[in-house]
Amino acid sequence: MILTPDEIAQTLSFGPWPPETRPDISNKASGHEAAIALGAALFTDTILSADGRFTCASCHDPAQGFTVRLSRAAGRKVLDRNSPSLWNLSGLRWFGWGGKSDNLWAASLHPIIAELEMAHTADSWASALSTSRYTPEFETIFGPIAEQPPQTVLVNTAKTLAAYQETLVTNATPFDVFRDALERDDLVAAARYSEGAQRGLQFFLGRGNCNICHSGPRFSNNEFHDAGVPYFLDTTTVDPGRFQGLKLLQSSPYTLAGEWNDDDDNSGAWAVQSVRQTHADFGTFRTPSLRGVAETAPYMHNGSLTDLAAVVRHYNEIDLERMHAEGEAILLPLNMTEIEMSDLVEFIESLSELPK
Ligand code: HEC
Ligand code: HEC
Repeated sequence: MILTPDEIAQTLSFGPWPPETRPDISNKASGHEAAIALGAALFTDTILSADGRFTCASCHDPAQGFTVRLSRAAGRKVLDRNSPSLWNLSGLRWFGWGGKSDNLWAASLHPIIAELEMAHTADSWASALSTSRYTPEFETIFGPIAEQPPQTVLVNTAKTLAAYQETLVTNATPFDVFRDALERDDLVAAARYSEGAQRGLQFFLGRGNCNICHSGPRFSNNEFHDAGVPYFLDTTTVDPGRFQGLKLLQSSPYTLAGEWNDDDDNSGAWAVQSVRQTHADFGTFRTPSLRGVAETAPYMHNGSLTDLAAVVRHYNEIDLERMHAEGEAILLPLNMTEIEMSDLVEFIESLSELPK
């Protein structure tokens, strides 16, 4: 065992996996079989796009880790950002690279009405749904379409998509097998985890400081940081990240503080009600989970890094000149050796399932 007792204690904090999940009380469809089945069917149906060109899977392909191999997503035009994977979203506080949603059904609703994505309106969607083969299932769950305002039909649809996505949980990985063996004190089983990955884990916890942001069972604190990725979209425009996300969040009718939260106490609303936009939010993005990440290249909010070796090189050579003045002093150039870099990649790869 090359890990110290302290490193072992830190390693245990990345599990157990999968975490216990509870139904989303803001979504009355959460956990309901019929809603999950309807959401799954709609996810891959072009009916969700006004011109019949896209499905959710066009940008979040189940066969490609619920993303696609493009740097920036292709909608009716090239979008500003990379399609995030949709694994393990249940229970998060913020959604989207800039956190423009505080719940999963709102994050599922935005693409339906976004001009550059599915481009529906509440009216066009309610009318498409009412003449589709999905009418009976939808009405069994939510009641007659004709008796719901179109906006309610839209929100209810998004709630079935969210119910489906809540079921997308990655399987245990070689890392989890190692972690669970450590918890049982089974050093024989733990020794089957490669030494390279163990050294990579030590670097991740130690000199790399990676676990400051990539923490907990999802390997993400789900908060917003500047990881040194340039945020210019072209020579004149930038992606403001969390700065813009907060503005969109606070002007959205679809937050936990709004009328569509199915929980009578509007629990969870405190988060959107207490966040304030500050200049330090500019150019920060949500820390991505590292589970399943081996399958979801290219990386970062703009898909600018092609593989995990490029991500590690990025952290190794981080450009402090480019970082925020008021940014965190966590990231520093790491001066890694080639072996340290390949060990770190090996560790990150062990957070994904072995290919079958
Ligand atoms: C044209 C490509 C495209 C289509 C079509 C699309 N998405 Fe996305 N999706 C994206 C991009 C890009 C983002 C990141 C957006 C952001 O950061 O604001 C995203 C973000 C998300 C998120 C937030 C994920 C996270 O990690 O926080 C969810 C959930 C989601 N999409 C679900 C859906 C659903 C459901 C559909 C179908 C109704 C859909 N998407 C259709 C490109 C797409
Ligand atoms: C200050 C917080 C922070 C620290 C420390 C940090 N990261 Fe990140 N990480 C992020 C953020 C934020 C992003 C997304 C940045 C963006 O898209 O602009 C990210 C992106 C990534 C990605 C790409 C994931 C994807 O799906 O695109 C990988 C892999 C990664 N980090 C690994 C590491 C490793 C390895 C270390 C340590 C050397 C590390 N991170 C240290 C916050 C951090």
